[in-house]
Amino acid sequence: MSFIRTHHCNELNASNVGQTVTLCGWVNASRNLGGMIFIDLRDREGVTQVFIDPEKYPEVAAKAQPIREEWVLSVTGVVRPRPENMVNAKRATGAIEVEASALEILNSAQPMPFHLEDPAASDDLKLKYRYLDMRRSGLINNLRLRHKITKVCRDYLDDNGFIEVETPILSKSTPEGARDYLVPSRVKPGTFYALPQAPQQYKQLLMVGGLERYFQIARCFRDEDLRADRQPEFTQIDLEMSFVDQDDVIRTTENMIAKVVKEVLGRDVQTPFMRMTYQVAMDKYGIDKPDLRFGMEIQDLTAQFANTTFQVFRGTIDNGGVIRAINAKGYAAAASRKVLDEFTATVKLFGAKGMVWLKVEEGGKVSGSAAKNFTEKEVADVLKAMDAAPGDLLLMVADKWRIACESMGRLRLAVAEKANLVTDPSLLKFLWVVEFPLLDWDEEEQRYVAVHHPFTSPMDEDVPKLDTAPGEVRAKAYDVVLNGIELGGGSIRIHQVERQAKMFRTLGISDEEAKLRFEHLLEAFSFGAPPHGGLAIGLDRFVMLLCGAKSIRDVIAFPKTAKATCLMTDSPSTVDPKQLDELNIAIKE
Ligand code: AMO
Repeated sequence: MSFIRTHHCNELNASNVGQTVTLCGWVNASRNLGGMIFIDLRDREGVTQVFIDPEKYPEVAAKAQPIREEWVLSVTGVVRPRPENMVNAKRATGAIEVEASALEILNSAQPMPFHLEDPAASDDLKLKYRYLDMRRSGLINNLRLRHKITKVCRDYLDDNGFIEVETPILSKSTPEGARDYLVPSRVKPGTFYALPQAPQQYKQLLMVGGLERYFQIARCFRDEDLRADRQPEFTQIDLEMSFVDQDDVIRTTENMIAKVVKEVLGRDVQTPFMRMTYQVAMDKYGIDKPDLRFGMEIQDLTAQFANTTFQVFRGTIDNGGVIRAINAKGYAAAASRKVLDEFTATVKLFGAKGMVWLKVEEGGKVSGSAAKNFTEKEVADVLKAMDAAPGDLLLMVADKWRIACESMGRLRLAVAEKANLVTDPSLLKFLWVVEFPLLDWDEEEQRYVAVHHPFTSPMDEDVPKLDTAPGEVRAKAYDVVLNGIELGGGSIRIHQVERQAKMFRTLGISDEEAKLRFEHLLEAFSFGAPPHGGLAIGLDRFVMLLCGAKSIRDVIAFPKTAKATCLMTDSPSTVDPKQLDELNIAIKE
């Protein structure tokens, strides 16, 4: 096989001087300096300067006349050193140029719809012409990193006895908690497949089938509100193992993650990762995915205010609530009225009724929104508990435990962002959050719902509480968190029919409903299901974090907009009425 090119555009340097080479690529830029033509030729790997001397090669110069940006060329010529004052140290090929003796225009291009390196080009335009944006935006490097990460995971899992299995895309509604994408069946009018929110049930069935160790780079589909770290279709590194406990899954996963970081970024990640219970995560960080790149832990001040006469705090404590606070060290001076209003708006967004702030002054004094309501002793106790020094800003919320935690957790993140507490952008802070609650009380539906999914096993010591205090039962569930983002999650599953039936009863799922939705799984479990458990890592999020990208869009070749549309192909779109007819579907006006 012979390729048109001999080298790529990031390859040539002083050691190639004198060689005749052929390069192929796109015109990144071209300049005509008094008849001498310089072309920056770009391919996937980089840029090489091509030089055309009209006196030496008049026919090449003539051919090059019409060339515009993004035309596609093949250039043959001799590598020669650049004059010393023209060396470009920033470019790998900056010491040389190729003097073209032959040039072929492989294709022309119409003017670009936007300048490909214009940071101000609109996102919509870039998404519509994703294939153009890809050429110069760095997206290709992100896709390359994604490829590498996937490859390291595949190799690692293969080395550890995992078998890669593809599971159906046309499947049945799964209970991952989001809305399903549905696909109508033509042959069975009125019935629908659901696109998998995750291969959860299939991978459990593979365990019943005796596969023992499964993995899949699995495409998942969820119709939910989109954010920077959510797309309607995304990819999981999905795995499941038989005859294991929680520690086995955790160790297997963190070793895989450490190997990826080592092989892709060349950096060591310390294992085992830190583990934190859900309770501690909520109490100290107000969130189940703590960002440990900075401290500023949430403190409990309920005891310090046990005898307070300050109405807001008094009422909260008497109703069983808590007082929670953070210390924004040294931030008092920067905390203008406007900033404090923003912080108050943040806690209110997460359900708190308001926020109390105190600026710490010299001599153990404080000023602030409620300073006059506190006794000297209370102030002294609070300063001690908060390790406060002059110049610090103390922010407090009084509310029910969950609201106090969650609003302070969000406030902690908001303060960290404002005060630039993450100073090292290369930090990677992994941790496991464990001992999640099994169930959550749904006020609207007035019943318990599964926090993870209904096949998650309760912790053995908490099983008796399923009857007496379901809300207190902890699950054998675990999330791996990186820099405040949930990277992945999983659980040990219930594998006995009896316990699964009990779980359904606790969830208020009737026998009929359980049969309708999960009969295949329940029946399978009755034929000797092995103990098993697994986990799924969000590949897009993993790649995003390792690339330092801000959104998973930047690591997906063809992402959807926030409205789940594709601007490039204009999907979703209407279809031919004949197609609808075949599916027995009528569109409501
Ligand atoms: P879970 O629902 O926690 O677990 O999903 C696992 C991981 O998938 C990623 N993720 C997403 N990434 C991008 N866009 C989305 N819309 C999106 N939703 C989820 C996250 C998340 O941590 N079947 C279980 C796993 C198991 O129990 O084995 C599951 O899907 O990184």
